[in-house]
Amino acid sequence: MAACDALQVKGVMAIQPYIQLLNVSYRYPRGEWVLRDLNLKLYQNQFTAITGPNGSGKTTLGKLISGIFKPVKGQVLINGRDSREMSLGEVGKRIGYLFQNPNHQIFAPSVVEEISLALKFRGLSEKEIHDIVADALEAFHLSHLKDAFPLRLSRGERQRLAIASILVNDPGFLIMDEPTTGLDLKRKKTLSGMLEDLGKKGIGMVVISHDNNFVRHHADRIIVISGGEIIDDRSC
Ligand SMILES: Nc1ncnc2c1ncn2[C@@H]1O[C@H](COP(=O)(O)OP(=O)(O)OP(=O)(O)O)[C@@H](O)[C@H]1O
Ligand SMILES: [Mg+2]
Repeated sequence: MAACDALQVKGVMAIQPYIQLLNVSYRYPRGEWVLRDLNLKLYQNQFTAITGPNGSGKTTLGKLISGIFKPVKGQVLINGRDSREMSLGEVGKRIGYLFQNPNHQIFAPSVVEEISLALKFRGLSEKEIHDIVADALEAFHLSHLKDAFPLRLSRGERQRLAIASILVNDPGFLIMDEPTTGLDLKRKKTLSGMLEDLGKKGIGMVVISHDNNFVRHHADRIIVISGGEIIDDRSC
């Protein structure tokens, strides 16, 4: 982190943030405040890392910026729209969210059906679905597992499946919670390559991670959160 400077959002000040938090506070029902009065702008042309100690509120923040949770106080704007006014389906077309545990987002009895789910939901034709799924299977090295039961896959395979299922929605932004957990060096490199390709396509990315090597390798910006507050925000 020593190589990072105090935040300057270079050359993008004129561009609308993809996601904006305005005085956002959050607490779980009957709990203490977990996040306090956060203000944050996230841009599509940045790879942003969010780091900080266990229990500091990173996952909660990830679910707020992806529209899964709605703020208790303040506003989350996604493409300028209040997340409270958007259905999960509307948010899912704009923002993909990779859970800390990929099992939490795998529902279908086979790999092919899992990747097809969102496409069927969108009402695409059989032919369109077939072509998109075939491309995704190839891009994520899952073709040989297309008929497998998802929950029997290895951790790395399940993660590739979860990312593939998110990306067929064509979101403009991807939020990943601890994506390198449980991956060996080879799988981390595969993930790194996938994220670099997505970055080149202009997809904005937020990675919540304790993995300092991974963060230093990818991040254009590092946000540190502690005790529910942003204590540092630097561009790299
Ligand atoms: N469903 C919940 N109900 C009540 N409190 C919760 C819930 N989920 C998380 N919390 C509390 O909110 C705080 C922040 O949790 P969160 O999971 O966002 O932290 P984190 O920074 O992601 O931690 P980690 O590094 O361990 O993943 C913690 O004190 C946690 O106990
Ligand atoms: Mg967490």
